[in-house]
Amino acid sequence: MPELIGIKKINVAVFISGNGSNLKNLIKYSLKKNSKFKISLIVSNKSYSKGLKYAKKFKIKKKIINYLNNKSAEKDIIENLKKNKIDLICLAGFMKILSISFIKNFNGKIINIHPSLLPKYKGLNTHQRAIDNKERYSGCTVHYVNSELDSGRIILQKKVKILKTDTGNKLAKRILKQEHLLYPKALKKVLINL
Ligand code: GRF
Repeated sequence: MPELIGIKKINVAVFISGNGSNLKNLIKYSLKKNSKFKISLIVSNKSYSKGLKYAKKFKIKKKIINYLNNKSAEKDIIENLKKNKIDLICLAGFMKILSISFIKNFNGKIINIHPSLLPKYKGLNTHQRAIDNKERYSGCTVHYVNSELDSGRIILQKKVKILKTDTGNKLAKRILKQEHLLYPKALKKVLINL
């Protein structure tokens, strides 16, 4: 583990596919005075991910991965992680499923944010499913990534009340606000144990 005090920070790579609002928020936290991590690499499987603009804005290296073939894509990712001496991977809206061998390679070093109160509503379309099932609460979860989708050990969760007037979109927006608070908190917790 790199030395924390004073000089070396934990090198984090953030993987995205879309807007990158969680990425932007993690960057903001990484730039705080006593932050123990640095975002050194942004990985996207799409060249047109909106979140890639933060690479330019905050002068962070970016790598767009061509996902024609999973095996070669992951080989490319691993090379870039090594080159940038990445210690921890934060998935933030990354829409590709990483292979079991990739996950094993980075055992305990990959975390993800998911917009539901896991273990409920793994996978996609979480907000609408929670509304349709007349849940009183949904929320968000930061968890370690293991070989089963959205099933790794939970680091932190935040509950959000579902309102009678909620649509999937409205609920998604309120949960996203909470995601922005939860992810940095969870990351802080992970860094202590890294
Ligand atoms: C978030 O809701 C996250 O929980 C989910 O994908 C969304 C990504 O949003 N995995 P953004 O790209 O960070 O804005």
